[in-house]
Amino acid sequence: MPGNKEQGFSAPRGMRDFYPEDMALRNRLFDTWRQAAENFGFKPYDACVVESLELLKRKSGEEIVDQIYHFKDKSNRDLALRPEMTPTLARMVSARQGTLSLPLKWHTIAQCFRYERTTRGRKREHYQWNLDILGEPSVAAEAEILATAVSALEKLGITGTMLRIHFNSRALLSDLLKTVDISEAKHPAIFLALDKRGKIPDEAISELMHKAGLNDDETAKAWRMLDMHTLDDVRQTVPDSPALAQLDEFIRVCASYGFADRLMFDMSVIRGLAYYTGIVFEAFDIKREFRAVFGGGRYDNLLTEIGGQPLSGVGLGFGDVVIAEIINAYLPNDGESRPECDTAIGYMEESQRSAAILLAQKLRSEGDSVDMALAPEKPKKFFTRTGRGSYQKAVYLGPDDIERGSARIKDLASRTETEITLS
Ligand code: HAM
Repeated sequence: MPGNKEQGFSAPRGMRDFYPEDMALRNRLFDTWRQAAENFGFKPYDACVVESLELLKRKSGEEIVDQIYHFKDKSNRDLALRPEMTPTLARMVSARQGTLSLPLKWHTIAQCFRYERTTRGRKREHYQWNLDILGEPSVAAEAEILATAVSALEKLGITGTMLRIHFNSRALLSDLLKTVDISEAKHPAIFLALDKRGKIPDEAISELMHKAGLNDDETAKAWRMLDMHTLDDVRQTVPDSPALAQLDEFIRVCASYGFADRLMFDMSVIRGLAYYTGIVFEAFDIKREFRAVFGGGRYDNLLTEIGGQPLSGVGLGFGDVVIAEIINAYLPNDGESRPECDTAIGYMEESQRSAAILLAQKLRSEGDSVDMALAPEKPKKFFTRTGRGSYQKAVYLGPDDIERGSARIKDLASRTETEITLS
């Protein structure tokens, strides 16, 4: 318990400590995210984790607003730790709207804070890789965003047999609701209510819809919409829906990238955030054991709502918590004995230290990562310590090596040795 002096302190509930062994996966994940984003031409951006509470209240989804960590600074300003990056992105883009060339493709890895009930896959702090494209109205943007995420997943070893991208479209849901005469003004409230399916009892969802002004008949019709399971079901009801045509085009573009087999139409994917207006998606592991690995969609009105000019965007947030659980479950041996450092250098006595330092500096200048012992140690201790998978190579210097002017670098995997000159 934090603050308990007898038992010692621990991290506040829902917050994580990252020990070096935890950093190995985190760094690999961040490197993979960054490489995939650069590979697809996304530019990096960043902002402070502290945001204006007003902006977040105006822009974050209703659900998130209740989870914001907020405080007053010493000048009585209402500030908060960001729960997501999208309002900040909208603020930054609208501030430079006239000068940015469109479409823009930006990415970032942002630490986010939400006061959530901590369960499997849910912490009160997480890192989230955000990919966003603004200024491209066609589904090419959705496909490009997902292709980038799929490429990162593949680099992490998560293949098409382990994960599916479930997609839907709020515009399509709107078209369906219009066929049963539910007015457009009520659609956002229906989306947010139905998105809570599985999280709260169905009666509570109906209650939310009643509160939003739906009568019993309309509530029943909204529920019935979820009985459609395939795009063909939908096609029979709204054959001429432009949103449906857009989904067909979306699938075609994803097929050109080669990942259409990972897509799955899913009526229950609606998303909890209010700002989505078009295609929405969430990725789940194939066994549906874990929460969403990533989620996102198209938002059309985000910028206008904070005073910018109309600009359509698509984006996703890919968190670090669920993906770690999926890697552990689906690739149990992943990361085992992955060397963290190229070369370990040890020595028997103080008198070999300067030769060890010279060798370490030479190898470092050539680009190797080198962990040089800070004190002499016995050969047995050195080779036991370095033989546990953390290093690729090891060099141990004794008085004979100094006399000969050379030493042997041992490849710890193949057990072969190469002679190197000491200078
Ligand atoms: P989100 O669905 O709220 O979307 O979050 C995206 C991802 O962040 C989730 O799928 C999950 O991996 C991770 N995540 C969210 N909350 C937590 C938590 N408490 N603990 C652990 N992981 C979590 C958004 O935030 C949107 N702003 C994404 C977006 C970007 N849409 C457009 N652009």
